[in-house]
Amino acid sequence: MKREAISFSDLSVRSHQLWNDQWLLITAGDFASGKFNTMTVAWGSLGTMWNKPFAQIVVRPQRHTYKFTEEFDTFTLTAFGEDQRDALKLLGTKSGRDGDKIAEAGLTPIPSLTVPAPGFAEARLIIECRKMYWDDIKPQQYLYPGIDKIYPAQDYHRIYFGEIVSVQGTPEFSAIQPQGALADVDKKES
Ligand SMILES: Cc1cc2nc3c(=O)[nH]c(=O)nc-3n(C[C@H](O)[C@H](O)[C@H](O)COP(=O)(O)O)c2cc1C
Repeated sequence: MKREAISFSDLSVRSHQLWNDQWLLITAGDFASGKFNTMTVAWGSLGTMWNKPFAQIVVRPQRHTYKFTEEFDTFTLTAFGEDQRDALKLLGTKSGRDGDKIAEAGLTPIPSLTVPAPGFAEARLIIECRKMYWDDIKPQQYLYPGIDKIYPAQDYHRIYFGEIVSVQGTPEFSAIQPQGALADVDKKES
């Protein structure tokens, strides 16, 4: 997949659609040593914290990926086209604890530009993050009664804030129109 560097200020996503419908992979660990794991996520956010671009992810403690988000300082978020829906379903239902689910999903881990955690060759969007903060969901702080039903086993998500240190994506993720696209519009209008 051909991706270009995108500054976070120019990143263009429909945030709720991206998380809730398209889904992403969180990948944590270290590409060089081969110690990493990935899983599908649909809950999280992209925004600004302490003047920095940041991503918030939530990981339940029983996930194999949790071992890696705890042990390592960086993670990536990757988004894919609809052609990889089956891969994301597989990576969101099988555990890396039980075998090489990344190979089974047919995805190709690749080194990131700035962090040890890998991205994927097939991704349309790669967001590289460095952990800056964590916290756990606390039942005594629920303000919305429906939250209780999400944690019948008291397996409260760990929340991580990651500073976004690099973004690469296909042109659909850039608010900056490529020159070629503008030229094409000009041609059509003339
Ligand atoms: C669409 C979808 C969204 C998911 N979102 C999350 C999430 O935000 N946080 C989480 O802890 N697990 C989430 N999961 C569950 C993990 O992806 C799943 O348990 C996975 O098999 C864990 O793999 P691992 O054991 O290799 O880490 C989601 C699963 C799916 C299918």
